Amino acid sequence: MSSAASVLRRALLYVPGSSQKMLNKSRSLNVDLVAYDLEDSVAPHSKHEARFAVRDFLMQPKADNIREQAVRINAVDSGYALQDLTEVLKAPSVDTIVVPKVNQAADLHFISDVIRHTLPDQDRQPSAGSRPPVKILALIESAQALMSLREICTASPYLDGLIFAAEDFAADLSITRTPSLSEFLYARSAIVTASRAYNLPSAIDLVCTAYKGDDAKLSLEEESRGGKVMGFNGKQCIHPSQVEVVQRIYGPNLKELEWAVRVVVGNKKAESVGRGAWTLDGKMIDVPVVKKCVAIVARAGLCGYDTGKLLAKWKDQQPE
Ligand code: COA
Ligand code: MG
Repeated sequence: MSSAASVLRRALLYVPGSSQKMLNKSRSLNVDLVAYDLEDSVAPHSKHEARFAVRDFLMQPKADNIREQAVRINAVDSGYALQDLTEVLKAPSVDTIVVPKVNQAADLHFISDVIRHTLPDQDRQPSAGSRPPVKILALIESAQALMSLREICTASPYLDGLIFAAEDFAADLSITRTPSLSEFLYARSAIVTASRAYNLPSAIDLVCTAYKGDDAKLSLEEESRGGKVMGFNGKQCIHPSQVEVVQRIYGPNLKELEWAVRVVVGNKKAESVGRGAWTLDGKMIDVPVVKKCVAIVARAGLCGYDTGKLLAKWKDQQPE
């Protein structure tokens, strides 16, 4: 499992593996995580061809503007998963496997065994130049999966996060998605809580299926803010136009970051005079607030903010 502090998966963009045009386009995008898809965006008659197209495409080195490359394989019970994995793991630039329709621990046992079998160095201590261990992200998309979160979260040492798939989940429960997303409250909350409880660095929220026009942009912003407030640290995207909005909202904004920096600096001063609780702008600051602010500053660094400069700017911040 990765250390949470080093993981940045604000946007996960799906790219259909059957579209050479979109595969090529993905290399020009600035995105934290690209998931090349072999599952639902690929028609059954194109599965075989798409698998080889994605494998060949991923033989080239990763583009600088993409942090992480994943492949979403087909589900374990689809009949395609073994061949998908065997082929795509040949490409050294695959960092992560996204596994759809994970319903039980056994699904991840299967995937982990195949990874281990295909990549014998997977469990060795990484050395300079060696391939880092391949990680797994599990899609939670059924009632059964939700009821099995505990066993799923502890099923594989390679598991690095959970993703909520609203459309399949709605189909499984025979419910209809509404703009408020209130019908998904329990599922989303359970996923975020499980990922924290089992120390998985990522909890990635549902796709906003609307992507064209001003209304779609507003929905995307609202959904992204809502997911962030619930504790998700990223969101799935289906179109390049969604990525900038999602990455902006899931990264710290400058106001939030300045506040966090002032708390971190002020807390050092408070600690030096033996104060655990103190005040900033009329608000009480204590250990949990400081912990959150330290995490915000660390994440801002990953997002490209010059946190050193901000820390210097606020170096004289005093506790009230
Ligand atoms: N990844 C990479 N490039 C994409 C893309 C994606 N997901 N979606 C669109 N593009 C590219 C298009 O090829 C086009 O490129 P160009 O400027 O070089 O011509 C550009 O972005 C604009 O695309 P646009 O014309 O607005 O969209 P479209 O009609 O080509 O495609 C969708 C719309 C919804 C079919 C397409 O975005 C898509 O297939 N998304 C992924 C769906 C998916 O993976 N679903 C399963 C997971 S939920
Ligand atoms: Mg699905």
